[in-house]
Amino acid sequence: MDNYFIKGGKKLSGEVKISGAKNATLGILAASLLCDEDVTIENIPDVRDVNIMIDAIKSLGASVNRVDRNTIVINAKNINTTFLDNKEMGSIRGSYYFVGALLSKYKSAKVIMPGGCNIGARPIDLHLKGFNALNANAFVENGYIIANAENLVGNSIYLDIVSVGATINIMLAACLSQGSTIIENVAKEPHVVDVANFLNSMGANIKGAGTDTIRIKGVKSLHGTNYSVISDQIEAGTYMILSAITAGDIIVKNVIPKHLESITAKLLDMGNTVITYDEAVRVIGANKQLATSIKTMPYPGFPTDLQPQIACTLALAKGDSVIVESIFENRFKYVNEIKKMGAEIEISTNTLNISGVDELYGAELTVSDLRAGAALVLSALAAKGDSKLVNIEYIERGYEDFENKLLALGADIQKN
Ligand code: UD1
Repeated sequence: MDNYFIKGGKKLSGEVKISGAKNATLGILAASLLCDEDVTIENIPDVRDVNIMIDAIKSLGASVNRVDRNTIVINAKNINTTFLDNKEMGSIRGSYYFVGALLSKYKSAKVIMPGGCNIGARPIDLHLKGFNALNANAFVENGYIIANAENLVGNSIYLDIVSVGATINIMLAACLSQGSTIIENVAKEPHVVDVANFLNSMGANIKGAGTDTIRIKGVKSLHGTNYSVISDQIEAGTYMILSAITAGDIIVKNVIPKHLESITAKLLDMGNTVITYDEAVRVIGANKQLATSIKTMPYPGFPTDLQPQIACTLALAKGDSVIVESIFENRFKYVNEIKKMGAEIEISTNTLNISGVDELYGAELTVSDLRAGAALVLSALAAKGDSKLVNIEYIERGYEDFENKLLALGADIQKN
């Protein structure tokens, strides 16, 4: 197992190009099973979760041609099973999208329960509620999600909690159904819109993605397409925060600045300078961050996937900050690690009370999940002295070329 060895204390600067969005890619890969023609997907990130999804698609009998590192051609004509049982699949979150896609196309799916980061209970009741509203019989039994239908029929579905996964999964299931489906109180994240755009490029009829209500008119079949995945909002936000925490000067390229507004707003509150271009943002980090309050919210609110990174930055701010985590109840596992570096943070249920300190100091740190891992790397880069990070494979689930991109910005980081 590799570790990261980081010497902190350098101001990082330069340009970083953001990769394709992991969470959009997971939905799009599953969606590519909905037709029998070639589907070309460009700008997919070469990260572990995506590669596990691709292996699963192969195991279903689909043909997969990785044209280059970030481009893939999938043809699902010869799928010969709707049963997915590979252990690796059970370690990622996006595996649940195979249920929506296989149910939609083949009216049947049996897929190992999803895993993903251990950041809370992560139920899938809303996914099942959506499938059942479309006339399927969907349930969980012995560690599998099972869904069957004779015919999928459109319906009105209200999601009582805003869920990215349920929104995408119900879209997948509904686009080949009979009649119309209306899903209310849906997630509006950029990757939800990207999956809808991808499905529409295959001939689906989905309207309203990016608003509170999505309307889907079922179509008989979908066709091949050529599509480029949007850039990763969370990867972009991570590098923006990196510039702040290291008092650096980083231009984050290949982004949609509109998708980064909640992060930009908080970085400005914290005393940083943010300059927005058409497809880039430049963050000039303040020498001392200012304290602020943050509550994680569904898009367009501040993303839960950037909560650990911003909390670690506020650990170095002038004054006291408060962070309320309103999406996942167990997303503070990194706090004990950053306390080893000298941070002063108290956890009270879903709230962090952070008293800013002048310095963080290098330490041996254990990564507990993907975004916590990114946050600890950022902290180690800002800290005085040397840090060692173990369990870095979590980080490789979602950040393409992490250490190379950091090296190019002047970081002192080694993987071995
Ligand atoms: C997705 C992202 C993850 C991100 C999260 C929130 C993927 C693969 N993962 O996860 O990176 O942190 O969105 O932006 O895209 N809930 C229910 N019942 C359900 C589904 C969800 O109660 O059936 C609750 C969850 O417990 C959570 C909230 O809804 O409190 C939001 O979860 P959701 O948006 O579904 O997260 P994921 O799709 O798992």
